[in-house]
Amino acid sequence: MLSHTLRSYISGDHRKPLFISGDALTVLGLLPDESIDTCMTSPPYWRKRQYHGGGIGQEPDYREYIEALLRILAQVKRVLKPQGSLWLNIGDTYLNKRLLGLPWRLALAMMDEQGWILRNDVVWNKIKGGFDTAPDRLRNVHEYVFHFVKRPRGYYYNLDAIRSKPRQARIVNGAVVSATGVTGVKYRRQIELSTALNEREKREALDALDSMLEKVRSGELSDFRMVIRGQQRVTHSSSEKVSGRAREIRSKGFYFLTYHPNGSKPGDVWDILPEDTQHRAGHFAAYPEDLCRIPILATCPPDGIVLDPFCGTGTTMLVAYQLGRRSIGIDIAPEYIEMAKRRWESNGPRTGTLWDTVVQAEREPTWVNRSGREIIRL
Ligand SMILES: C[S@@+](CC[C@H](N)C(=O)[O-])C[C@H]1O[C@@H](n2cnc3c(N)ncnc32)[C@H](O)[C@@H]1O
Repeated sequence: MLSHTLRSYISGDHRKPLFISGDALTVLGLLPDESIDTCMTSPPYWRKRQYHGGGIGQEPDYREYIEALLRILAQVKRVLKPQGSLWLNIGDTYLNKRLLGLPWRLALAMMDEQGWILRNDVVWNKIKGGFDTAPDRLRNVHEYVFHFVKRPRGYYYNLDAIRSKPRQARIVNGAVVSATGVTGVKYRRQIELSTALNEREKREALDALDSMLEKVRSGELSDFRMVIRGQQRVTHSSSEKVSGRAREIRSKGFYFLTYHPNGSKPGDVWDILPEDTQHRAGHFAAYPEDLCRIPILATCPPDGIVLDPFCGTGTTMLVAYQLGRRSIGIDIAPEYIEMAKRRWESNGPRTGTLWDTVVQAEREPTWVNRSGREIIRL
């Protein structure tokens, strides 16, 4: 019966999330192979909290806890499509003053024993952290969000869906100022005073700089950097065999890096306030809605299905719905499933993406070279 419900949800076109009360291992066992696009989940902490339904997290030994999670994650791997992704939010715990390293113990076992491929270890900076009186160590304010895939390439990833919009250039006292404050004055002076450029190269560099500034003024480009022979630290191998830019520096004396026109890509440190500080009663460790947005937008196609085998109060499902994705949420505690349903009924149907509310660390701009390839660091 449950297996039929799951199959008909997967093959149907219901947008409303499917909530199932039950043990994750049992329910996952009823899902067909390769039927889910994205799994976003936060398993129970080890012996930190007593949830209503018991379940995972109460094992006397942390190794048993890891084993229990591995059994579930093996099922998650089976039900994920080959192009699918798993995002796993997991926090650490101390035992007899020793930080156990549970997130990494689990991640390494997943890679070594189950063949998962880790693509990112995102640090979720909770900014505030919990109450902490320990006199002999620092406050703990971060958790991990691991991004795993099943194959090294060809998994679904829509980077443009998670780029932040580029800031625009502005005009100050009649002069154009790029999004990050480039006016061209510094480059102009460097070119004019350069002893590494000859007179012809200086003229060409100044002309090229003027045309870049004109593009910024006209809105065609929001930002750029100029690399001038003998001035800036170069962003490429100095070997001309491997770098076209090294050749440009030799032959012309300069080159440009332009801001990616679609915006910058998020980094792997996310500053997001925990949900407990956002007034949700009745459930411990309810993770914030903002934590789910990048995972869902980037790795679940618009018509795809998101799974959360430890859905608690249904945060993943709510965000999936708001972002137009279908979803299946499982939790062992019937009370949480009821809370998740009620929460979805009172909030879910409001539409529109809340993407802009993500509190992000200032993102590094992403730069592209002339062939459009991204350069991560300047
Ligand atoms: C960290 S909480 C998840 C919180 C959730 N992200 C939210 O937004 O509320 C972990 C959840 O896993 C559930 N759980 C524990 N063992 C389980 C099991 N064997 N099967 C399914 N759910 C389980 C707990 O009831 C708890 O709600």
